[in-house]
Amino acid sequence: MKKLFKNARVIDPSQGIDDILDILIEGEKIAGIGKNLTSFDAEVEDLTGKIITPGLIDMHVHFREPGFEKKEDIKTGMLAAARGGFTAVACMPNTNPPLDNPYLIKYVIDRAKEYDLIKLYPIGCVTKGRMGIELSEIGKMSEQGAVAFSDDGSPIGNSALMKRALLYAKGFDKVIIDHCEDPALSEGGQINEGYMSFKLGLTGIPASAEEIMVARDVILAKETKSKVHIAHISTKGSVEIIRRAKELGVNVTCEVTPHHLILTEDEVEGYNPLAKVNPPLRTSEDVEALIEGLKDGTIDCITSDHAPHTKEEKEMEFEYAPFGISGIETSLGLILDKIVKKGVISLSQMVEKMSLNPAKILNIDGGTLKQGSFADITIIDPYIEWTVKKEEFLSKGKNTPFDGYKLRGKAIRTIVKGKEVYKEVHHESLVGPGRRFDL
Ligand code: DOR
Ligand code: ZN
Repeated sequence: MKKLFKNARVIDPSQGIDDILDILIEGEKIAGIGKNLTSFDAEVEDLTGKIITPGLIDMHVHFREPGFEKKEDIKTGMLAAARGGFTAVACMPNTNPPLDNPYLIKYVIDRAKEYDLIKLYPIGCVTKGRMGIELSEIGKMSEQGAVAFSDDGSPIGNSALMKRALLYAKGFDKVIIDHCEDPALSEGGQINEGYMSFKLGLTGIPASAEEIMVARDVILAKETKSKVHIAHISTKGSVEIIRRAKELGVNVTCEVTPHHLILTEDEVEGYNPLAKVNPPLRTSEDVEALIEGLKDGTIDCITSDHAPHTKEEKEMEFEYAPFGISGIETSLGLILDKIVKKGVISLSQMVEKMSLNPAKILNIDGGTLKQGSFADITIIDPYIEWTVKKEEFLSKGKNTPFDGYKLRGKAIRTIVKGKEVYKEVHHESLVGPGRRFDL
């Protein structure tokens, strides 16, 4: 089975490509990329006006299986990811039981294989039971297919343990992903510590709770000459620490979420639980610094931290509602409309941060359209105007603060190993050539 996509704007930073090109897919692989490709036996499609990128990779999602299938399961998570334009995801291990041994890693991999959808890579726990006391079986889990290690949802509070984890993971060429939060500083915290926490009378989570841990982690990564990846950074100070650490040659990478790039603590006004997320939404000064970090390359990746919860849980009193935003179906649209369209980063930089860099950091397949690689492809229509409707999410988690947002640009097709796993059927409105914006 051959497919020839003609005249798309192909963006592939792995080859320095941003050009109008054709792509030939043969079976599971990319058989050719170039100008005026022909094939006598391929199904030909004209993709003028569309963008082709290497399949997007979200390296930080919560698919909740096993244990919390009411919030999400592997199938609905993968369907939602495909709809969001993602061909691969890495799943956090804060399930029940947590993914802290090779049997559970295998279980998740096997469950994902039951559905012929996107690629799913499990992340194993750093500590047994995510208790922060004893290291988990990092080596055995690596052999079974865990791509990284994290106690996400919680930090690794004990610095000596973190140091050992970094050294141990280094032996398997794996990265530790840390959720940076000093537990003593954040204890009982609900939202950002500052104006809003005083106004609403809620306990705050100070910026220092995150920054102290970021600083500790880069110090330990330097000392141990190992790799550390900082999850969902949210403060100006974190950007500054990581920027400086990179200048000093520390092997540190980091990510930011669309919600931390777009929203501020103002969103929790009126005790809105949909804006309750950890780390919390911060101030406009933090948002500006995150945008600067995204621009100058301090921030390597954009991840959704897709954290689905049930309606009942999110409707509880603010203090009892769980932290998290269901983000995988809005991530690309938000970044296209609120970040790329505004000129903060180019489309090529977006592909770096949403495909190439995650593939490099996790050392997994993907992030490229090179001839011979798997045909993992995202097709984007940059002109579609659409409205975020949480009830239409394929994810079980309808918990989004972006419901009703009007966005321009979305994934219309998601292709994994040459097979289409998502196709947009309903285009809300197509903007004519006269109103096109240049990305
Ligand atoms: O908002 C969050 N939700 N932050 C986390 O660290 C965990 C996540 C979850 O698992 O729901
Ligand atoms: Zn998370």
